[in-house]
Amino acid sequence: MDIQDKVAIVTGGGSGIGRATALRLASEGASVIVADVNEDGGKETVSEIEASGRPAAFVRTDVTSPEDVQTMIAAAGETYGGLDILHNNAGILGGPAPFPDADPASWIPVLDVNLRGVILGTQFGIQAMRKRGGGVIVNTASMAGIGFGYPANPVYAASKGGVVLFTASCAALMGSDNIRVNCVCPGVVNTPMFSRTREATGALNEATTAFFETLDLIAPEKIADIVVQFIHDDSLAGRAMMVPNGREHQLVPLAEAPASWSGRS
Ligand SMILES: NC(=O)c1ccc[n+]([C@@H]2O[C@H](COP(=O)([O-])OP(=O)(O)OC[C@H]3O[C@@H](n4cnc5c(N)ncnc54)[C@H](O)[C@@H]3O)[C@@H](O)[C@H]2O)c1
Repeated sequence: MDIQDKVAIVTGGGSGIGRATALRLASEGASVIVADVNEDGGKETVSEIEASGRPAAFVRTDVTSPEDVQTMIAAAGETYGGLDILHNNAGILGGPAPFPDADPASWIPVLDVNLRGVILGTQFGIQAMRKRGGGVIVNTASMAGIGFGYPANPVYAASKGGVVLFTASCAALMGSDNIRVNCVCPGVVNTPMFSRTREATGALNEATTAFFETLDLIAPEKIADIVVQFIHDDSLAGRAMMVPNGREHQLVPLAEAPASWSGRS
C-alpha cells in the first residue's frame, strides 16, 4: 500500500516507538490520529507532525476500553474520512516485582493493554477498513513473544506471544477482506519504556542490568521503518518480523500449518 494520502492511527503514539511511527507515516504523506492515554505526549507528537506540514489529531484513548477504541476509530472517519492503516502499538511492561511474587493487580493490566488492546483495535479497525475495501494493521509484539520468551517478566512475554499468534491467525483476512495484519517483534529499543526498565531493574537484578549494558540499543525509528515496510509490501499477512539487537531484522519462519488453516502469504 502506498502511504500517500492514507489515514493512519497509531496507539501509544505519544512516546517512543509510537511517536516515531506517527512521525514517519506523516512524512510519507498520511493523515495521522495519535491515540494515547498520555495527553501531553500525544499532543506533543501532533505538534511535531503539524510543524512538518502534515495533518494530525490527538484522541485520548485507553486501548483496554472498547468504548474508547470505537471512539478512536470513529475519529479517523469523522476527521479524515476513513481508516487505512492502524498501528496497534500501545504497551506496558508492568511493575518491577517479578512474577510469581508480584501482586496480580500489577500484572493483569499488562495482559489488558498489550493483548486485549491489540485485539480490540484489530476488531474495530477491521470493521472500519472493510468500508474502504481494505487496509493494513501492524501490531507491536516483541522478541519477548517469540523463541525464548522473557524470563525476567513471563507475563509480558505471554502478552506478546499472544500478539504474535493472534496476528498469525488473522492472516486469512488478506483473502477475505483485503486487510493485512502483521506484527513487529523488537529487541530492546531506546525509548522511555527502556529507560524506566533500566532504572527499576538496577535495584533488583544485577545480571539483567549488566546484560542491558552490553546491548546495542535499537532506535525507535528503525521499528518505524519496519512498520512502513509491512505497509508497503502487499504480499505479507500474518507475519512477524523480529528485530534483534545487533543483528539484521528478519521474518520469523512460518510454522507448518494445514493449508486450510494458514491463509498466509
Ligand atoms: N522499548 C522496548 O525495548 C520494546 C521492546 C519490544 C517491544 N516494545 C513494545 O513497543 C511498544 C511501544 O513501547 P515503547 O518502548 O515505545 O514504550 P513507551 O512507554 O515509550 O510508549 C508507550 C506508549 O503507550 C502508551 N500507553 C500505555 N498504556 C496505554 C493504554 N492503556 N492506552 C493507550 N496508550 C497507552 C503510553 O502512554 C506511552 O505513550 C509497546 O507495545 C512495547 O511493549 C518495546
